[in-house]
Amino acid sequence: MKIDFVSESLGQLKVRALVVFAFEEQPAVSGTVFHLPEATREQLEELRQSRELTGKLHETILIHRPAGLAAQALLVVGAGKESKFSVAVLRRLAGAAVRHLRGRGVRSLAWLLGPKSSGAEAVQAIVEGAILADYDADTYRSERDADKRIDEFWLATEGPVLSEDARAAAERGRIIAEAQNFTRDLVNEPSNRMTPALLAMQAREMANQYGLECRALGLTEIKSLKMGALLAVAQGSEEEPRVIVLRYMPESAPAAPVVGLIGKGITFDTGGISIKPAENMHEMKTDMAGGATTLGVMRAVAQLKPAVRVLAVIPAAENMPSGKAYRPGDVLTSMSGKTIEVLNTDAEGRLALADAITYAKQQGATALIDAATLTGAVTVALGNITTGVFGWNKDWVKKVLESAEAVGDKMWELPVDDEYRDLYKSSIADLANTGGRYGGAITAAMFVGEFAGDTPWVHLDIAGTRWSNEEKPYLAKGPTGQPLRTLVHLLTHLQGE
Ligand code: BES
Ligand code: MN
Ligand code: ZN
Repeated sequence: MKIDFVSESLGQLKVRALVVFAFEEQPAVSGTVFHLPEATREQLEELRQSRELTGKLHETILIHRPAGLAAQALLVVGAGKESKFSVAVLRRLAGAAVRHLRGRGVRSLAWLLGPKSSGAEAVQAIVEGAILADYDADTYRSERDADKRIDEFWLATEGPVLSEDARAAAERGRIIAEAQNFTRDLVNEPSNRMTPALLAMQAREMANQYGLECRALGLTEIKSLKMGALLAVAQGSEEEPRVIVLRYMPESAPAAPVVGLIGKGITFDTGGISIKPAENMHEMKTDMAGGATTLGVMRAVAQLKPAVRVLAVIPAAENMPSGKAYRPGDVLTSMSGKTIEVLNTDAEGRLALADAITYAKQQGATALIDAATLTGAVTVALGNITTGVFGWNKDWVKKVLESAEAVGDKMWELPVDDEYRDLYKSSIADLANTGGRYGGAITAAMFVGEFAGDTPWVHLDIAGTRWSNEEKPYLAKGPTGQPLRTLVHLLTHLQGE
């Protein structure tokens, strides 16, 4: 999708489709509809009277040959209640417009920027919403919805041309949303096409394209690093594990912090010997969503060039049952030296993360953040809407939550508390890899946190938010690419601290 700018009086603007939005419960049409020529507004007022146009959130009304406009069609998107309007709402309105129009053969559209929605933040969100909406997950269908692309997305102003600031914001929005779609593509790949080695190849290709340093550690190196926890997860599979390491270390950035980004990269999770039920097991192709997010974040960071050092570590493995698989009861020695009793081979993510965190610290990370599809329990608590946030360090947690709020990712902090530690004690080893059913998201997070130690650390459990089971007006069903925007915002706003 090409993003471009146009400044023209609305009556003269010759486009395939012009998009405006209207608020609900106003006596007269309001929103960017207000800036339309008189004749157009009269036409809309009639639709308002007949209750065809209500302004309800994500409502879409397409008018062919609108009065008073040179545009071939006018799309009015419902913006909901004005009191609930925000940049996050705007992002979704742009998405709803794109999805409505691309489904109707429109390839080019102009989004009207009103005076209240043409600031840098708004412009960035509109571009993000448009690009995220122009995505479908039907990669291997012969006739793809994804081929119904919007080719041109014009940001239209009537008065003065858009500020440099707003243009830069549009470019940021493009970089971030394209990175998020890249993440979605990786998450969407089936496990026969996304093994640890193939994930490493994707990482290397991306790194070469954007000038990042990338190394993928193979089995021999992983063994010599004594990553006993990750190795145990991987040993049941024919596919060899990888530890994918990317570095973004600009000379201009201060020596600290070095942010360690860790992403769970289980390319398929059968549960191992503690095997999962057959129903929905196919969804476990997405168990590398944390790793895919990490790669997308690095892709965006490489282009946005914030003055902060980032070390990304993705432990990639396949969790399979076999004659060589690890067993319940096995005791593992992790890279940190801590011993772990395996009570359930399906609690493999925390094992992979444990060694990745130890490695990131050894490589100089001074602050950690991990993203992982870690527990079904977080989905019970927060559904598919909200990501679970965990961490001991209140400042670091707060920064993540503020970033989430700023970019429209929904996140909620769940407690970590010493009193839960008893739940994952082992009678034979330092730790057990499960803490039972109750508080499962918390004990899983805390297990991971044991390996972070005193290093500030935040854990994001994205088991629910990695995937959308329903098609939304502004987003396709399938991989969401969450929490990429939160992490990019965090890294680009750490400067000067
Ligand atoms: N990858 C799963 C968690 C998951 C569940 C992700 C649903 C996405 C959707 C994880 O490895 C897992 O199996 N967790 C277990 C832990 C349990 C054995 C302590 C779970 O949540 O059931
Ligand atoms: Mn599992
Ligand atoms: Zn898993």
